[in-house]
Amino acid sequence: MSGEGAIIAEELVKVYGGKVRAVEGVSFTVRPGEIFGFLGPNGAGKTTTVTMLAAGLRPTSGQAIVDGVEVSRDPEEVKRRIGVIFQEGTADGDLTGRENLEVAAGCYGMSRSDGKERATELIDKMQLTDAADRYAKTYSGGMRRRLELAVGLIHRPRVLFLDEPTLGLDPQGRAGFWEFILSLRKETGMTVFVTTHYLDEADGMCERIAIIDHGRIAATGSPAELKDKLGGDVVTIRTSGPTPDVTPVLQAIRGVSSITKKDDTYRVKCMQGETFVPLAVEAASKAGVGVTGVSVKRPSLDEVFLEFTGREYRGEEGPTETDKAVMMGHIRQNLRGRR
Ligand SMILES: Nc1ncnc2c1ncn2[C@@H]1O[C@H](COP(=O)(O)OP(=O)(O)OP(=O)(O)O)[C@@H](O)[C@H]1O
Ligand SMILES: [Mg+2]
Repeated sequence: MSGEGAIIAEELVKVYGGKVRAVEGVSFTVRPGEIFGFLGPNGAGKTTTVTMLAAGLRPTSGQAIVDGVEVSRDPEEVKRRIGVIFQEGTADGDLTGRENLEVAAGCYGMSRSDGKERATELIDKMQLTDAADRYAKTYSGGMRRRLELAVGLIHRPRVLFLDEPTLGLDPQGRAGFWEFILSLRKETGMTVFVTTHYLDEADGMCERIAIIDHGRIAATGSPAELKDKLGGDVVTIRTSGPTPDVTPVLQAIRGVSSITKKDDTYRVKCMQGETFVPLAVEAASKAGVGVTGVSVKRPSLDEVFLEFTGREYRGEEGPTETDKAVMMGHIRQNLRGRR
């Protein structure tokens, strides 16, 4: 069996201890060179799936092919071809950053001189030069994550698995991390598989995503495709007071598919937000209700999640809008500088 994918998952199932059905038949294909996001709330089965793909856990059934190699048939070969950054960090605090890298190089059978050279190169890239010869236990969270990423990259893997790589990083740390991943991908054409429960991050950084929920894939596609499937914009209208309820008048406007009201605020799903807004303001004012604020948004992945699973997203809070703006600003600025 083979295929076009850098990562192919076919009906992967993992049942822990005969009881816990963590992954219930997961299939997807990740194209070579793609940044693919695996998105889902806590306990959805993300780590279990990544670990199976990365030859760290045997599936109960189903199979995975990574970089053309069937994982169950040759797990060691798969491990040689991939880099993995696990959710719980793996850097050894009692070694320096540089030693962590050199030990990792040794594990991959690189020669001492090759290992040293590559370690220095990555230390430089990860901006760890000043800290390279300090114990890793003295590193900040962000520095530790950068070190772990360097360790995962030491042997120039063709496929990189990242399990919640930006958990606990501040906006600047996140921005720096993604900026590095993007530039690395550009340089090497590496395929990147990244799990996250930050919806905004997946939206901004991944070409395609799969949403996993309760061990099953709820949807797969580019963030834009998934949002298009929802068919329309989300308009939020704040009014001067909770009564009278203008839901019926808004509902009567063309293109409106649904309305939810909370206190004095209406959330309207409709085909064309911009044309809906003036009609809504007029209709509301005819009904004696003033409009005090309006926003028009393309649906976010939150709405995508709700649509495909029927539930609100239960993942941890993602970065705030401000955090996200700061992060995206950083990335754009730095990428521009580099071109
Ligand atoms: N070793 C294990 N033994 C038994 N159950 C497990 C084991 N590891 C995970 N599980 C269970 O499998 C399910 C999926 O866990 P998994 O760690 O894959 O989720 P996740 O999506 O990575 O969650 P998080 O966002 O919290 O990291 C959960 O119900 C979890 O409790
Ligand atoms: Mg996990």
